Amino acid sequence: MKKYTTLLLLLLLFPLWSQEADTLSTSSKMQWFKDAKLGIFIHWGLYAVNGIDESWSFYNGYISHEDYLKQTEGFSAKNYNPKAWADLIAESGAKYAVITSKHHDGFALWNTRYGNLNALESSAAQKDVLTPFVKALRKDKLKVGIYYSLPDWSYEDYTHFTRDSIRYSISEEPKRWKSFLNYYQGQLSELSKNYKPDLWWFDGDWEHNAEEWQAAKVKKMLLEDNKQTIINSRLSNQGDYATPEQGMPIVRPKDKYWELCMTLNNSWGYQTNDNDYKTTNQVIGIFADVIGNGGNLLLDIGPKADGTIPDGQKEILKELGRWTHKHTEAIYGTRAGIPKEHFYGPSTLNKDRNILYLFVKGNPGGEVVLRGLKNKINRIYVVGEGTKLDHQVVGKVYWSQYPGITYIKVPDYVLDENMTVLAVLLDGEVDLYREEGAVIESN
Ligand code: GLC
Repeated sequence: MKKYTTLLLLLLLFPLWSQEADTLSTSSKMQWFKDAKLGIFIHWGLYAVNGIDESWSFYNGYISHEDYLKQTEGFSAKNYNPKAWADLIAESGAKYAVITSKHHDGFALWNTRYGNLNALESSAAQKDVLTPFVKALRKDKLKVGIYYSLPDWSYEDYTHFTRDSIRYSISEEPKRWKSFLNYYQGQLSELSKNYKPDLWWFDGDWEHNAEEWQAAKVKKMLLEDNKQTIINSRLSNQGDYATPEQGMPIVRPKDKYWELCMTLNNSWGYQTNDNDYKTTNQVIGIFADVIGNGGNLLLDIGPKADGTIPDGQKEILKELGRWTHKHTEAIYGTRAGIPKEHFYGPSTLNKDRNILYLFVKGNPGGEVVLRGLKNKINRIYVVGEGTKLDHQVVGKVYWSQYPGITYIKVPDYVLDENMTVLAVLLDGEVDLYREEGAVIESN
């Protein structure tokens, strides 16, 4: 009897235990991603030649497919310097990069055995442009992310072609779909074995459901090759982290892991006619918002067809790099900061939660305000600059738990040209007053 009870107990507990083991291994494989904070996204493909929308320009009928593909003749990569790309990415302070190995137009940057629409066989470049970049990233100790579009609008056995024309439906021609599955999964297997990516960035899953893509099978295959690899949410939600796009979430996302992908101007790929760049201040402000809410920023660049990175984009990355390198301790490995009621700006916390980093935009007019902090402050200093700052607590009375308002004195000469960061060293884990105001009971 006792034997059975133990067995029953074990059987009951096993699912719990294995679930626990699963989340433990997820959090250990997600560790570098959670700490990395900044990645650079690269959209490089045929579209850079004319400077038009990546893939969508022919899908939406702005140009014929035939004319779109003529851009292969201009995709020269003749000034392409993968080491310079990787060095610039490292200089920006990013810890990983994600490159479009193949966008929805089907043009592959590597020498794939599946189909011949690739940089080596059908472009002026006549070479594999992905392999040297992956090598350069690894050399600079940057993590490697591969973007891969599930849809391939140029491939004859893919269902969708343009907005107005669909080649076939899966129920009508299941064999044709099977041949597409072999093709795309073959490409993925090549990428997986050639480059052993640290991260997969899928896109375009909206055109079919998880079953049609065989998403579970694909995930299994990639994890068999590398059980540490991270997968984004766009493999029919089979992945590890959420990918909001362009808009900085206003309310802190509930997802444990998330990454905002955002363009520097309004285009993913290079477009001569798009000079609507965000300023460095805006990029840094958005980055601070993202990390203050516990996320990562994947900031996009669009190199030209000859392989050069446009000057405007280079400049922003370099300026961002000056700022990230100065403020390393407030950025990398930190966690989301305190609620906005306590500090009207972005903030982060170190892993032990006893150093609070306050991100101060512009000139705060002599002081920065922190509300309802129960901790004793041991010290405050300006990150990357070193000056120790004084503070004053007002509104604290002995008869109430209400801890008062902290005014931190910030002289003008310590201010950073983009965004100043203050480190507030606390006497223990951050402790905030979240109750309502108190009424006097005795004095
Ligand atoms: C969208 C677009 C695509 C772009 C991607 C980046 O899914 O289809 O063109 O590459 O966003 O996140």
